[in-house]
Amino acid sequence: MSGEILLLSGPNLNLLGERSPEIYGASSLEEHVGRFRELASAAGYSVRDLQSNFEGDLIEAVHGARGRSVAIVINAGALTHSSWALCDALATFEGVKIEVHLSNPAAREPFRHVSTLAGVVNGSIAGFGALSYDLAFDAVRRVLEAS
Ligand code: DQA
Repeated sequence: MSGEILLLSGPNLNLLGERSPEIYGASSLEEHVGRFRELASAAGYSVRDLQSNFEGDLIEAVHGARGRSVAIVINAGALTHSSWALCDALATFEGVKIEVHLSNPAAREPFRHVSTLAGVVNGSIAGFGALSYDLAFDAVRRVLEAS
């Protein structure tokens, strides 16, 4: 299989490695993206990645993926719990969509228990630390190859 996967990272994820390492681990975002890219390229996919602290940048990246990318993997950070605009944007994307989190939001503060994205993605992977990104790639690949 081939095609482009868009890997999106939301607010504060640029601080991974420094920010609450006891929750999010010691790896930087660059390390997570690099590992994801390696897995994808070994399977024949290319990866475009974007991290932004601005909701509108993420929405525009989703628009740009329409008709172009075969899948979107998104860790929207705290926008997961508040952004109906990102939910609406993702609903317009016709490819495979996977929500990913390093921590398990369901086991944390109540405000993290809601995901505005959960209803418009194929599925969510959360709570496995760095492994969440490996599992997200595996999910994308298997859904694409089954379709
Ligand atoms: C996160 C979980 C969110 O609740 C939080 O706001 C983040 C990171 C995760 O990967 O575990 O920024 O998306």
